[in-house]
Amino acid sequence: MNENVFQEAYTRVRQRRAAAVAEVEAHRDEIYRSIPEIAEIDRSIVRTSMRIYELAQQGRLDQERDRIMRENLDAQHLCRRLLVKNGYPEDYLDLHYTCEKCDDTGYLNNSYCDCLKKEIARIGIQRMQQRAHLELHDFDTFSLSYYRGIVTDDGRDCEKVMRQILDRCTAYARTFSLESPSMLFFGPTGVGKTHLSLAIAKAVLEKGYSVIYDSIIDLLGDVEREHFGRAKDETDTLSLLLTADLLIMDDLGTEFDTSFNVSTVYNIINTRLNRRLPTIISTNFGYEEIRDRYAARIVSRLFAGYECSEFVGNDIRLLKRLEEH
Ligand SMILES: Nc1ncnc2c1ncn2[C@@H]1O[C@H](COP(=O)(O)OP(=O)(O)O)[C@@H](O)[C@H]1O
Ligand SMILES: [Mg+2]
Ligand SMILES: [Zn+2]
Repeated sequence: MNENVFQEAYTRVRQRRAAAVAEVEAHRDEIYRSIPEIAEIDRSIVRTSMRIYELAQQGRLDQERDRIMRENLDAQHLCRRLLVKNGYPEDYLDLHYTCEKCDDTGYLNNSYCDCLKKEIARIGIQRMQQRAHLELHDFDTFSLSYYRGIVTDDGRDCEKVMRQILDRCTAYARTFSLESPSMLFFGPTGVGKTHLSLAIAKAVLEKGYSVIYDSIIDLLGDVEREHFGRAKDETDTLSLLLTADLLIMDDLGTEFDTSFNVSTVYNIINTRLNRRLPTIISTNFGYEEIRDRYAARIVSRLFAGYECSEFVGNDIRLLKRLEEH
């Protein structure tokens, strides 16, 4: 998630606010023309607020406050009655923000309002869809024929293994909910891990859940950049990763082995397991490589908390290239 996503989301929220204000101003112009009495009442309200200011300056506001407030309220009620009498809705001159929690400012108590977060997620998802070519990776274009007649070193039929994995993935996508388990896909390059991850991402997105998909390198890169120099109004990628309905991290093991990366990966896996949020991780590593590369606390979380699927077969990218010739 880069800064542009944040900027775009923030601009959209502020545009809603500007539109709400512009709408009321247009209504006001219209009403002043059609109901001049209301223009007069508004002018008297302005005079009253100037009077309040003067009284406050003279230290006499307290004695008069109640009377002035009452007059103001009466004036507002009168406006509403006049609107209704002339066939307008009584709230025709009220501001109507899209988000009533933050009045379309995007901020609430110094942090992001949900409406801004939702917008960030929505734009992030659009970007992801463009980048990951979701249209090319769905269950319909996943063929078991590439695994036909291939046998693993320990004698298992690849087509059979992959049929089970495909069935598991389609069922997962079909029945996805926040209670769904986390999954770990491992196995060699080019056997369909990314393809099935994206097929799941697409199906789950279509159900209306928020999904973040990216390679672990790009995800950690964003988190690290923000960690070491985040402007106040920049995206908080880490908190999005920790809260998305479904997070898919592709190519675990390709990231640099820095202490920042190790602790961030642990934080993400651990926090999402604790919150019981589903995560899908894929890796070209085998079991032993994962065990050697990662600290025991990560390995135990992964293998105990995730449903593991071992993908098998020959590199389909190569097979496809051969087909073409
Ligand atoms: N079963 C399959 N049917 C059709 N295309 C596949 C299948 N598995 C993989 N592919 C294609 O082969 C290429 C490599 O697959 P990918 O999912 O990226 O492998 P991995 O992530 O396991 O390294 C991609 O273009 C993908 O769409
Ligand atoms: Mg892949
Ligand atoms: Zn809001």
